[in-house]
Amino acid sequence: MKKTNIFIPYEFNRCPEDEMCERSRKFYKTMKTRRSVRAFSTEPVPDEVIENAIRTAGTAPSGANKQPWVFCVIKDPALKRKIRAAAEKEERLNYERRFTEEWLDDLEQFGTNFVKEYIEHAPVLIVIFKENYRLDNGEKKKNYYVNESVGIATGFLIAALHCAGIATLTHTPNPMKFLNTLLDRPANEVPVVLIPAGYPSDDCKVPDISRKSLDTIMKIY
Ligand SMILES: Cc1cc2nc3c(=O)[nH]c(=O)nc-3n(C[C@H](O)[C@H](O)[C@H](O)COP(=O)(O)O)c2cc1C
Repeated sequence: MKKTNIFIPYEFNRCPEDEMCERSRKFYKTMKTRRSVRAFSTEPVPDEVIENAIRTAGTAPSGANKQPWVFCVIKDPALKRKIRAAAEKEERLNYERRFTEEWLDDLEQFGTNFVKEYIEHAPVLIVIFKENYRLDNGEKKKNYYVNESVGIATGFLIAALHCAGIATLTHTPNPMKFLNTLLDRPANEVPVVLIPAGYPSDDCKVPDISRKSLDTIMKIY
């Protein structure tokens, strides 16, 4: 059966150019202070901030508006402990056997290893699952551009948390199938990223890295 198109007026807030520039400057100034944090305080963060950040992520564009994502929020210390143990098991294999020499070499500047204390210390873990397909009354239905859509939503989430004053790490202790088991998620969902979120610990340090310049990353035609 053909679906009916319904269109509604788009209420776009046009703002003066000087204000546009000011807003873009302010946003860039805020976003450039975002860093991946690997040392968290155990201090809790407001639930509402997490909820609003996930609401924001849920506004991301997605292929055919299928919104192929699920955000699991973990605060329970016992579950965090289990996730840490499973992640460290995979990461130990990654660091000791699966990562190539080149990969290990590239990671050296971050001082990371298989020990992931932050998974237990961070007050909140957000695990983002991509929904590779949907099940509609047992029938498999397609989702489109799932990786792109979930990547954009993840960016929205990280930006929203950062703007609200919450630090994050984008963590990928692959393979992450253990997250389906521990979080009881179905087979059509695949974990994409594990995001510890909270306040940095008082002694938190971050690697001294640089960003590519605008003329390197922007090409004008
Ligand atoms: C897809 C993706 C996966 C990542 N996986 C890990 C990870 O498993 N462990 C980790 O410590 N950092 C991980 N990172 C963080 C990067 O190392 C970090 O973003 C990069 O070094 C730039 O630093 P910044 O986020 O502080 O700007 C990941 C980042 C991305 C985008």
